[in-house]
Amino acid sequence: MDSQTLMMLSEQYIAHTYARYSILLVRGKGTRVWDKDGKEYLDFVSGLAVCNLGHCHPKVVKAIQDQAEKLIHVSNFYYIEPQIQLASLLCKNSFADKVFFCNSGAEANEGAIKLARKFGREKLDGERYEIITMERSFHGRTLATLTATAQEKFHKGYSPLMPGFKYIPFDDPEAVRNAIDSKTCAVMLEPIQGEGGVNCPSEGYLKAVQEICDEKGILLIFDEVQVGMGRTGKLFAYEHEGIEPDMMTLAKSLAGGVPIGALLIKKDLAESFKPGDHASTFGGNPLATAAGVAALTALLEEGMLENCQKVGSYFLSRLEGIKKEFSFIQEVRGKGLILGMELKMEGGTIVKEMMQRGFLINCTMGNVLRFLPPLIVTKEEVDQMVEALEEVFKGSLAHGA
Ligand SMILES: Cc1ncc(COP(=O)(O)O)c(C=O)c1O
Repeated sequence: MDSQTLMMLSEQYIAHTYARYSILLVRGKGTRVWDKDGKEYLDFVSGLAVCNLGHCHPKVVKAIQDQAEKLIHVSNFYYIEPQIQLASLLCKNSFADKVFFCNSGAEANEGAIKLARKFGREKLDGERYEIITMERSFHGRTLATLTATAQEKFHKGYSPLMPGFKYIPFDDPEAVRNAIDSKTCAVMLEPIQGEGGVNCPSEGYLKAVQEICDEKGILLIFDEVQVGMGRTGKLFAYEHEGIEPDMMTLAKSLAGGVPIGALLIKKDLAESFKPGDHASTFGGNPLATAAGVAALTALLEEGMLENCQKVGSYFLSRLEGIKKEFSFIQEVRGKGLILGMELKMEGGTIVKEMMQRGFLINCTMGNVLRFLPPLIVTKEEVDQMVEALEEVFKGSLAHGA
């Protein structure tokens, strides 16, 4: 079936929750993807921070193939070998002592919210269930996580929202201190806000929030669904700050493209979850966790974190360079290979023009171009993308931007 017919059928049969671009991607390798008509694209989206290892990493492909021949799924009533391996690897490489597996970022955050409430009731003084979250945050689309997401546009049409959340400005430690009251059990935030526009907090902010949480005896939850798994140049973004949360959520890139989510927890806190308290049929399923073991091992062993740091700072300097040329660029920001370019105009047409030239980039918040290439991207590929962007920007100037 040709791509036009398939896209028509998609419109007919698939719920219209996505505004899709008119391309149908059928193949990927490393930093590149191809559409059904054979056109090649350099991918600076990575399935929105999922394909950190590049598309179809051979070790992930092999792990999926091998596991699919042995055992695809069994219930969590039984022990599951790759699940045990992935949990051990995650704990050995992070602050955490225990992992709860699930299938997505939203589900991992749901787990964090439930555990924070349970711990708050059982172990903290009084009736503590409220969670403080940040303006411009993004935590998912389930009812609890979209309520945790402090952006009104995601709430529209879904009221009544869940009680028990309080919103404050990001990057303001005093706002955290002032918001904590006798009902607060936790503060939840993204170390760098992804969907909210690649917003990086000032140096020392995360440490200050951790100190406030410790002082008040409440929990600190980091949502590293987008910035975890090497995206910022360290395995986890919190490592840059020399601090540790009590819980952290992961998903997206954890299994190299296979759906997975994980809630990483410190030991004392994890004890509040008893058998029967929380569950997920597919959580930690053999296929997903086998892919996860292969993905995490490749990430740690193949120099991807180093490449992310090196190419990431080169990329940032290239973007800062073109900022000087075009007055409609407001700001360039980010860390490692999550970079944002805020424009003084809408970014949607720029994305479309880049796509025509064979480059996939993303735009969030309407005017922030977001770059999330695989962590194996080279300086030469960055140069190609930046040169194409300059050309598109010159065209925009000619059209009166
Ligand atoms: C920081 C963050 N948390 C949670 C989510 C939700 O993840 P999922 O779409 O897997 O539910 C996202 C998705 O973009 C995210 O960026």
